[in-house]
Amino acid sequence: MTPPRWWTVARERLWGLAPWDAGRISDEWFRAHFEYAADVVNQWVGGVLDVRSARLLNFGCGDGITDLALVLRHGATAIHGVDIRREYAKLPRIAREQLGMRRIPAALTFETIQPGAPLAGRHPPVDGIMSWSTFEHVERGQLLPILCDLHACLRPGGVFFLQIEPLFYSPYGSHLRRYDDVPWHHLLATEEALWQVIQAHEGPIDAAEVDFGFADFGADGYKRFVFKEYQALNRLTADELVALAGQAGFTVERQERRSVDLQPPPELRGRYSDELLRNNEVFLLLRKGDARAA
Ligand SMILES: C[S@@+](CC[C@H](N)C(=O)[O-])C[C@H]1O[C@@H](n2cnc3c(N)ncnc32)[C@H](O)[C@@H]1O
Repeated sequence: MTPPRWWTVARERLWGLAPWDAGRISDEWFRAHFEYAADVVNQWVGGVLDVRSARLLNFGCGDGITDLALVLRHGATAIHGVDIRREYAKLPRIAREQLGMRRIPAALTFETIQPGAPLAGRHPPVDGIMSWSTFEHVERGQLLPILCDLHACLRPGGVFFLQIEPLFYSPYGSHLRRYDDVPWHHLLATEEALWQVIQAHEGPIDAAEVDFGFADFGADGYKRFVFKEYQALNRLTADELVALAGQAGFTVERQERRSVDLQPPPELRGRYSDELLRNNEVFLLLRKGDARAA
């Protein structure tokens, strides 16, 4: 049973964080978030905020592994994770299995929200927001209202770090690569043909792409879940994201777009630009107001 938060806070004051050991990590999904994702967030956010004293919000926190790493490896002291699913409820078990950690830190709090439900005004303003591989899953009509709401959640001068990978029009933008390795297949084949490829897939899938939800679904249920996720993708492009962020009142302080070194097939070249087809990742650092307000 998870102990009440006040108890964890009191224990940590007296004895510090529960011990943990990264040498026990055996799961590649865990490692990818605990190391890579957390380090990237820390590089971008830590460059403009003091992560140790900042109040942070993670929009679309998933299982919360990245948040845990930001506390344990980068010294964050207050992260509130929100998500429309409750994968974060697995974090105490995951931390026990992967780190031998008996209690997750009191610095972490989590909340389940309804899609698009406003957050602003429900908590004191935060210094920083992050969102990792989430905005491509948000219903298109909710993108601008959510960005406006997140803008309102920030204190003046606060920052929002947002990452998306893979972007929809890139070779594996379907998020189906774990079952289908043909680049741009989702832009070339029918949905029925894609589903048949997935259904026919046998054998293990890339361990770094298997989240902790896999065990709940089983192999076939996971295929159906992943395919539904593909069908729900909002097909957002990096240009559209930047335009929406501007409409929500953010200024872009820094951005990076990454592209794959693959040649798109001729049948797609007339339909989409090469730049769009090759751009698989975007990182944005957005600010509320200008840096002088920070
Ligand atoms: C690919 S997962 C990424 C989760 C986590 N950031 C990570 O890196 O593991 C996308 C997440 O976005 C969440 N999500 C989708 N739409 C959302 C919305 N409208 N509000 C909040 N979370 C949302 C999903 O529930 C899911 O946990």
